[in-house]
Amino acid sequence: MMTSARSSSWTSSDPSLAELEVMVAEPSHRGKGIGKEVTRMMMSYGVTKLGVKQFEVKIGLDNQVSIAMFKKLHFQEVSVSKVFKEMTLEIRVDDLVRAKLLHDTAHMKERDYGQTCRNRQELVSK
Ligand SMILES: CC(C)(COP(=O)(O)OP(=O)(O)OC[C@H]1O[C@@H](n2cnc3c(N)ncnc32)[C@H](O)[C@@H]1OP(=O)(O)O)[C@@H](O)C(=O)NCCC(=O)NCCS
Repeated sequence: MMTSARSSSWTSSDPSLAELEVMVAEPSHRGKGIGKEVTRMMMSYGVTKLGVKQFEVKIGLDNQVSIAMFKKLHFQEVSVSKVFKEMTLEIRVDDLVRAKLLHDTAHMKERDYGQTCRNRQELVSK
């Protein structure tokens, strides 16, 4: 799986605006809720740790699954580029969006990445 959320500094110097990208690389693992869950997880991290107030996503017009997923997460279509054949969707993090996001990710726990890797290595070497 690949996920990323980056500051859209190439289009704006506003650090409260972030662009999201998500891919469930293994096709057989798609359609099981992973995409929605990791997107919420990234958004929650962005909002609570980085002060993100607006997310945007650019999706190819033929990628209906992804467009459906972001609309389900309440992103709104803001523009369509015929040249790049892509759509831009965005969501502004107002109090309601923030509260829903925190509610939907309340079961998730933040773990130290280095420690998690070391724990895995210990398990594998046993
Ligand atoms: C787009 C992608 C990340 C979605 O992840 P996923 O784990 O497959 O999606 P989920 O199972 O979490 O489903 C999320 C929503 O997507 C939509 N969706 C998922 N599979 C779908 C399908 N086969 N047909 C139509 N809509 C679909 C639904 O709206 C779904 O919400 P619901 O389950 O509440 O109905 C994944 O399919 C993927 O990696 N695609 C290729 C890479 C890509 O296009 N990335 C997007 C660029 S940012």
